[in-house]
Amino acid sequence: GAASVLGAQAIGGALAGGANAAASAAAEAAAAAARETAVGEAIVPYHGARQAGIETPPQAYARYIALDLAPEVDAAAIRRMLRVLSDDAARITQGRAPLADTEPELALMPARLTVTFGFGQGLVERAGGTAPTWLRPLPAFGIDRLRPEWNGGDLLLHLGADDPVTVAHAARMLLKDARSFASVRWSQQGFRRAAGAEASGSTMRNLFGQLDGTVNPAPGTADFDELVWHAGDPAWLAGGTSMVLRRIAMDLDGWDRVDRPGREAAVGRKLGSGAPLTGEREHDEPDFEALTPVGFPVIGDFSHLRRSRSEVPGERIFRRGYNYDESPADGGISDAGLLFASYQADVDRQFVPIQRRLDELDLLNEWTTPIGSAVFAIPPGCAEGGYVGETLV
Ligand code: HEM
Repeated sequence: GAASVLGAQAIGGALAGGANAAASAAAEAAAAAARETAVGEAIVPYHGARQAGIETPPQAYARYIALDLAPEVDAAAIRRMLRVLSDDAARITQGRAPLADTEPELALMPARLTVTFGFGQGLVERAGGTAPTWLRPLPAFGIDRLRPEWNGGDLLLHLGADDPVTVAHAARMLLKDARSFASVRWSQQGFRRAAGAEASGSTMRNLFGQLDGTVNPAPGTADFDELVWHAGDPAWLAGGTSMVLRRIAMDLDGWDRVDRPGREAAVGRKLGSGAPLTGEREHDEPDFEALTPVGFPVIGDFSHLRRSRSEVPGERIFRRGYNYDESPADGGISDAGLLFASYQADVDRQFVPIQRRLDELDLLNEWTTPIGSAVFAIPPGCAEGGYVGETLV
């Protein structure tokens, strides 16, 4: 009777509802899968007037590898090496296995992989090129406690990707092909938050918990172009830049003993929002004239913010650093810090005066110690069929 009709309708309705639910669950799963694999599949173009890996929004993982050329390597050999390495990079960054890849499956996940090449003074001279005057070790600073194992190098390979397996495989491919020309001098790894963990464009937090990178020239703007990209004297560097890499140890145990007001005074910014001590939001302009009720500057004269900011126009840099956290030595519980990477058109005119001022006075120096230092010229990019370094050798 009526009851069984009603019953049948109810069952039919439930079935239809179930099918809908199943369909939308499948759609949701597909969308989730697409979101998940989007990180692995994302590609950053390799070819272009400028090398990738500088203006590229920072990937979660970075590896910086410095190589020393073998004694017998001359200009012709440098050219051969750069051709091979640039070709490897052109393939692997696009998710294609380089020639002779013994683990080609690992090359299929580019995860925004970039490979950026840099040249040390030794390589430029060996290639017979003119080195810009700033391409040499930085002047010695009083705060430096440099360790030989983190300094210098002829050739820099800077790899960045949102996946650590991708980085490891790309590094191995490049090093296998570089092996007959050069040997590894040092290798340093760094990290930021995982891809997708926070909104893109968020300022990174370093291991002191600070927002680090708030005041930075914005890629793609005329301001950035002028500060970072090299105009071309020597000509082979036109469209390139320079990179200073400082390995800066951070004393996390010492930092633990400082209260919150002390920590915020060291930089002149609030830990939570990253706002200046005189403001509310991260990007508020600091007011260096503001005084406390008893007449002291709210943002101290000794603060990192005050000391790192220059009044000389053009004396600015682009910071693109990474955290590091390695195995602690004897009895300690941490060996952590910052791989401080700075890009600028001219190291002597932009980076050195800032570092000199911080060397003279910066409260943050209480807890930070530079233990490695290297300077590289970053040549321009190349078009398809060309190779990075072709303007030099
Ligand atoms: C700003 C941390 C080393 C240059 C800042 C800020 C923090 C910070 C928290 C404020 C937020 C921001 O604008 O990013 C650190 C730490 C360091 C370090 C933890 C070492 C481990 C250096 C070095 C230099 C430098 C070596 C350059 C030689 C700057 C500059 C600013 C800045 C130019 C922006 C200043 C402005 O507001 O105009 N840093 N920093 N920092 N830092 Fe550092």
